[in-house]
Amino acid sequence: MADLPDTAAVTRPRIRIENAVKSFSGRVVVDVDELVLGDQPIEGLIGPNGAGKTTLMRMIMHSTPLDSGTITLLPPDGEDVVLSGLRTHRMAHHGVVKSNQVIMDFEKLTIWDSLLLSLAKAKYEQPQRIYSERDLFEEQADAARWYLDFFSFDDPFGYAQSAGEKKLLDIVRCFLLEPKFLLLDEPTAGLPEELTEKVMQVVRDLAAAGTAVVVVEHDLNVIWSLSDEVHFMAEGSVILGGDPQTIRKHKTVVEKYLGEGHV
Ligand SMILES: Nc1ncnc2c1ncn2[C@@H]1O[C@H](COP(=O)(O)OP(=O)(O)OP(=O)(O)O)[C@@H](O)[C@H]1O
Ligand SMILES: [Mg+2]
Repeated sequence: MADLPDTAAVTRPRIRIENAVKSFSGRVVVDVDELVLGDQPIEGLIGPNGAGKTTLMRMIMHSTPLDSGTITLLPPDGEDVVLSGLRTHRMAHHGVVKSNQVIMDFEKLTIWDSLLLSLAKAKYEQPQRIYSERDLFEEQADAARWYLDFFSFDDPFGYAQSAGEKKLLDIVRCFLLEPKFLLLDEPTAGLPEELTEKVMQVVRDLAAAGTAVVVVEHDLNVIWSLSDEVHFMAEGSVILGGDPQTIRKHKTVVEKYLGEGHV
């Protein structure tokens, strides 16, 4: 894994997971001995329903506390940060951002307001301060406008209507935070094809500019076309890793997940 060459001349942070265990009601749902994410610009994390993918991502964000083990951010420069010792709201400060498989409730804020509020919260942890940082606010507002236009939101000053629009809004929120390490949990589930393509385009651009991206998806066309490397998770453990061509043909992946006859 670590021997694969980097595809771009930019340095990215990595995340190291060691002996990370999580149980719910006495049942172990994640048990990862050793895994490094971020050796490649875009990595896929795949596996059957209930394999533990979302739980592992939540453990990285520390929104699900670990029973035991350590998760460490390894920045390309600067000191290592023990993420499993940090509060969730400190993650964005270190550039680690995650999208949500299940979408937050946007019913009380317009699309525009919810974007600005999440930016303000992440940057300052004090929403009102963004309004005193006028230049930064303008810069971010421009970026927000660009994304809302790119993804063709019907009415940015109205409320998110469909499940797809809420999902996109959550992803745009992640993009706007200018993540150094971006975790996407089923970013394109339920999106029409043209929006899936656009999400993939932004992910590629971010990765080319130096963001490390890990994508969980059941839409394997997304995984095979985006990922430089794919990790396969089953029954709580990451049991295989390799390039997409190798993983999609691997006997274990076919048996436990893809089924015979897939393409
Ligand atoms: N808060 C919780 N309480 C109890 N059990 C949980 C909780 N969160 C997850 N689980 C269980 O942990 C296991 C792993 O779930 P997880 O959501 O991480 O899987 P996943 O790989 O993301 O699946 P999917 O592909 O369906 O999203 C499942 O059996 C799930 O029911
Ligand atoms: Mg999941």
